[in-house]
Amino acid sequence: MPGDESWHSAVADEPVVPPASFVEQANVADADVRENFEREHPACWERAADLLDWSTDYDTVLTEDGPPFRWFEGGRLNASYNCVDRHLDERKNQVALTWEGRLGESRSYSYLDLYREVNEFAAALRGLGVEEDDIVTLYMPVVPELPVAMLACARIGAPHSVVFAGFSADALATRMEDADSEYLVTCDGYYRRGAPVHQKNKADNAAMALDDGVEATVVVDRLGDDTPLADDEYDYGELVTEHRGETVEPVERDATDQLFLIYTSGTTGEPTGVRHTTGGYLSYAAWTSHAVLDIKPEDTHWCSADIGWITGHSYTVYGPLALGTTTMLYEGTPDHPEKDRVWELIERNAVDVFYTAPTAIRAFMKWGEEHPGSHDLSSLRLLGTVGEPINPRAWKWYYTHIGDEDCPVVDTWWQTETGGMMVSTLPAVDDMKPGSAGQPLPGVDARVVDIDGEPVEPGETGYLALTGPWPGMPLSMVEHEDWFAEHASVVPDLSDYDWAYFTEDSATVDEDGYITVLGRVDDVINVSGHRFGTMEIESAIADVSGVAEAAVVSGPHDLKGQAVYAYVSATEEDEGALRERIAGAVEDAIGPIAVPDVVVFTSELPKTRSGKIMRRLLEDIANGDDLGDTSALRNPEVVGELESALPDRG
Ligand code: PRX
Repeated sequence: MPGDESWHSAVADEPVVPPASFVEQANVADADVRENFEREHPACWERAADLLDWSTDYDTVLTEDGPPFRWFEGGRLNASYNCVDRHLDERKNQVALTWEGRLGESRSYSYLDLYREVNEFAAALRGLGVEEDDIVTLYMPVVPELPVAMLACARIGAPHSVVFAGFSADALATRMEDADSEYLVTCDGYYRRGAPVHQKNKADNAAMALDDGVEATVVVDRLGDDTPLADDEYDYGELVTEHRGETVEPVERDATDQLFLIYTSGTTGEPTGVRHTTGGYLSYAAWTSHAVLDIKPEDTHWCSADIGWITGHSYTVYGPLALGTTTMLYEGTPDHPEKDRVWELIERNAVDVFYTAPTAIRAFMKWGEEHPGSHDLSSLRLLGTVGEPINPRAWKWYYTHIGDEDCPVVDTWWQTETGGMMVSTLPAVDDMKPGSAGQPLPGVDARVVDIDGEPVEPGETGYLALTGPWPGMPLSMVEHEDWFAEHASVVPDLSDYDWAYFTEDSATVDEDGYITVLGRVDDVINVSGHRFGTMEIESAIADVSGVAEAAVVSGPHDLKGQAVYAYVSATEEDEGALRERIAGAVEDAIGPIAVPDVVVFTSELPKTRSGKIMRRLLEDIANGDDLGDTSALRNPEVVGELESALPDRG
């Protein structure tokens, strides 16, 4: 963790130069690319739009009388056509999706196979009554039917809302209710460490919790057992067979029409739906896949994120398929059946580009370099990371033991809201500085500012703000004239900018303009690269009988970077039983991944004289930081109790 010796590296204070062999073949190698984008703004973004096929050309790149900003206005296109149909002429027999299942199975779809199944499932969805602009919820683990369903929805202009399979029934119901979604595609279950998990039970419980129920549910048979289906439930395989050979004309969508919805956590107690556009988002996912991940059609690309998160949307499905490459899907965990699983998969599939999270890299490091060392990883050309800060020591390990010092590492900063990467090195253009994400990408206006909105001096900590539009911006920002006004109460003061969005991250910037992201300043915990609002977890714990009050903050964790710490004042003595009930409640409300790693029982929570829980103090205690001034506390005596109640994190 930051400040800890093992987090940092003695090496790599010098910038690392991109390998010449990489530069020679890179998609973007023009040293002036940032200047060119700036000079040509907004026409520079034609480069992104040109990566797609438009059924009707756009009139303007950006309507700049905004906000509201409208990207590629007048343009019409279909995302499924762009990710599938248009590749058929040149590569119908090339593998589009290759899937590695949890039980060691593998399955591949050529672009022609993908075209057929997307069409058949699109016809099936239509047959069930799904119309343009209906929201279809997809609740599945990483199986090929998930991207097929996403593309089938895109084909008929029905925005999808993918809900991470590990989320609970309650979490699914909340999202379906909020989205007003009446159609659900799920599966009977999936395997976790070889044992079946019954997903359909969770889907059934969610359906029961919905006021209007579900119009139709489609169930993918993943377990191979005979899960009984009700009248409004349909077997995926049977539906596809019924519609065998049917084709569905891709529905032309406006560039600004919604392609999908995805939920993420913020400061409120409820998850927020982020709506991404068809033209802007897809061009941006394709452009960043091209410029940063350097994807070529002949590559095999592996983004290890679950498709339930934005990373999987942009860099497993939409970006790679828009570029006509082979994208790999992996359902399993990195250490099952053995700790060399990831390297075995890279070797067997000759993966060219590997994109993963720092948490995973820290686990690989811990397991030892003998695991990658026993495999031929020479197919790799580029490595990437996303989701949380990467410590220089982990960066260097990745660069050396996985990339053999011959692959650039891109540390990409972005968010669910941005749709695609915003800050990163360009792998053939920029030197790499381990631990620092890099400069804003060409055409991206990101800066680190102080509380008054003024750019900070190099080395000083400030707030990361986006101060100009980009094609991947979500509809809330595109449409909302008052986006900034609504956020104006949030630090820092960005009112001098025509338009600005505060990312809720803190960061520093160096004299070369390289941005190092430090973490969130709001009440969001980033666990293994996944976002959870502390309020969501707190409200689940507060409902547990025997709990008087709870406060949730982030604390250190040597693998995950951050972990969920819950401080609980209890009315019940049996801490063991209470601990179990708390874990169960969080699992039911959100899912197993949000269950607190550390629960600290206390007689009272530290409060100000006005009765507000001092969460910052709890966070400092969890991190072992200096507590500073505690004079605002009404009950300073609890501080010592809390410090001594923390487990030894040795
Ligand atoms: O705090 C930043 C962190 O992840 C947050 C966004 O989370 P989410 O919307 O779930 O999207 C994750 C995948 C894009 C950011 O506000 N974050 C993301 N990438 C990085 C990062 N922190 C440091 N370095 C990164 N490369």
